[in-house]
Amino acid sequence: MKHTDNIRVDIGLLKNYVDKKALLALQPEIDRVIKSIRNKTCAGNDFLGWLDLPFAGDSAELRNLDKVANEIRANADHLVCIGIGGSYLGARAAIDFLSSPFDKLNRKNKIIYLGHQLSTDYVYDLLRMIKNKKVYINVISKSGTTTEPGVVFRIVLDYLKNKVDAKTLAERIIATTDAKKGALHDMAVAEKYRMFVIPDNVGGRFSVLTPVGLLPIAAAGFDTHALLEGAKSMAQLCRDNDNVLDNPALTYAAARYLLYNKNKEIEILSAFDPGVQYVGEWWKQLYGESEGKEGKGIFPASTIFTTDLHSMGQYIQEGERNLFETFVTVKKMKRKVTIPELAGNKDGMNYLAGMDLAQVNHQAYRGTALAHFAGDVPNMTITLPKKDEYYLGQLFFMFEYAVAVSGLLLGINPFNQPGVEAYKQNMFALLGKPGYEDLKKQLTGK
Ligand code: PA5
Repeated sequence: MKHTDNIRVDIGLLKNYVDKKALLALQPEIDRVIKSIRNKTCAGNDFLGWLDLPFAGDSAELRNLDKVANEIRANADHLVCIGIGGSYLGARAAIDFLSSPFDKLNRKNKIIYLGHQLSTDYVYDLLRMIKNKKVYINVISKSGTTTEPGVVFRIVLDYLKNKVDAKTLAERIIATTDAKKGALHDMAVAEKYRMFVIPDNVGGRFSVLTPVGLLPIAAAGFDTHALLEGAKSMAQLCRDNDNVLDNPALTYAAARYLLYNKNKEIEILSAFDPGVQYVGEWWKQLYGESEGKEGKGIFPASTIFTTDLHSMGQYIQEGERNLFETFVTVKKMKRKVTIPELAGNKDGMNYLAGMDLAQVNHQAYRGTALAHFAGDVPNMTITLPKKDEYYLGQLFFMFEYAVAVSGLLLGINPFNQPGVEAYKQNMFALLGKPGYEDLKKQLTGK
């Protein structure tokens, strides 16, 4: 299908805080930052591999990935994807965005997520659910040493070893990990699992367009080539156009940087479609982990409207005034639902009869944006022309490029995550991992 449009960013309701003049005044700073990305002198410059991922659309690796995805689709009742953080959220964001919410109720939904938390009940119930099912497993970990996916993978392997012979089990396990190192890599080589590689120069939260995201997305039946095409069109736009007013990624990055400097420290990503919920989760990781360091950074939050207008809506309208909002909207929904006439107009809603439900939702969005603006919550809107793989690819790349630019504008390294180590060290010590004895004493006083 031909795609001629692009994602757009509308900053009309940022006025009083950010306007075109303010954006243009930031252009020299943006030029400096872009130059440091292009000539690879920026902080974290060994993690810029994500810039090139959209251009790898016809590689041998992708052909192999399609083959494996087709095999899973043909043979498996379920694909269990084991991973956390960047090794989980991108695939889930895309699959949820592109799926019908009710796929879960029928056999078409083959993807199950595991290893993204440590709940005993979740793991127990999942094992019960796959008891008589034919499952493939995609275990995903760049480091190959992360505790959550590592420990549940061990549990699943142990559970399945009495149900499937060793050779068949190994044939149904696909490891997505580092090319050369890590416990998962070594195990995959020893056990002869099939493997896909996460490039060294791509960090977890920037890995949705590597096999980390692409294999589950393809196995769920979605068009990864269109996803990459969309990402490529945005990457090309970012290569060709450095003008802060014409490049949606730069408009977005610059606007939020200016808002932050005016004490708008919390950004709420709000959508009017539950399919966007996990795009919000993916975005929160991308922005929270990239920017939240050295005592700086916008706190990323997300809501789904109109649901959350009946809960968080009160706070957004009248609570602390340190918020701004970014709406993600879709111009054309896949389906049409018309509101019927009700004889006698007993519910008083006949004024809506004949309208498409999307029109009602659109006016809910407009009403919300105007109300929040009036309540001193400046807001901007990112519009996707359609809800499909191509425009999702554009959105993924746009957000990645924007966070690189806005993180560098803030003066931090957007590509590392030193802060996520603290809880891990404590957990290892408390669990009695060898080598952590001193920290255990410190934490427990024993
Ligand atoms: O963005 C990141 O680097 C992290 O969120 C990781 O993706 C997450 O910690 C999982 O790491 P790994 O893929 O090494 O298991």
